[in-house]
Amino acid sequence: MARLGVNIDHVATLRQARGGIEPDPIAAAVLVELAGADGLVVHLREDRRHIQDRDLTRLREIVQTKLDLEIAADESMAKMALSVKPHLVTLVPERRQELTTEGGLDVDGQRDKIQKIVELLHDGGIPVSLFIEPDLVQVKAAHKVAADYVELHTGRYANAKRAKEEQLEVEALSQAAKLAYKLGMGVNAGHGLNYRNVKRLTHIQEIVEYNIGHSIIARAVLVGLERAVREMKQLLS
Ligand code: PXP
Repeated sequence: MARLGVNIDHVATLRQARGGIEPDPIAAAVLVELAGADGLVVHLREDRRHIQDRDLTRLREIVQTKLDLEIAADESMAKMALSVKPHLVTLVPERRQELTTEGGLDVDGQRDKIQKIVELLHDGGIPVSLFIEPDLVQVKAAHKVAADYVELHTGRYANAKRAKEEQLEVEALSQAAKLAYKLGMGVNAGHGLNYRNVKRLTHIQEIVEYNIGHSIIARAVLVGLERAVREMKQLLS
């Protein structure tokens, strides 16, 4: 059964909408773990639009499964991660104007910069995952900079409008997952996955973990967080 990492950024988005204290991502993290998730994921954005620094330090104290911290590939963010020491850091591209992370990290095009950040995190004993498009060139580049994991961006698959397009994206994800696995990296996947489209990817054996946020939190508003997490976990079995 693949593992499920639940991204709780949007619990904080709802809180920030009123600038108050609820809903609290810490309470959400406890419920997510009770419901059987294998890990928690948060993205500390440079503009702090949802998760705040204090959320992160509190999460690090209470998360009992695994805390995966997403940050931009930037030295000051890496230093902040070193002080918090999450179980995994995932480097993602970040642009202030975007609604959500668009596209994967261009590891091949900025190898030196990314290698430096990976080394910095490794020196602090933190394993590193790189969020990349399902593209063989990027998988090879991730291996060259000594990434421990890749997280394959499933956005193009999730947004595919036609069956043929969707099939091509499944194929690309499968090829990228196989190569990453062969090169000795762990393979995660995520972005845009929901209760309808995730099942098809579970046939790709090399993907061991799915990181899912928006669809779970959106469903939780209607059916409750524990049920939303349990239902997603069942789809991964
Ligand atoms: N993985 C990464 C690297 C992400 O940046 C995000 C979005 O923050 C997700 C997974 C989750 O995407 P979604 O919210 O669409 O499920």
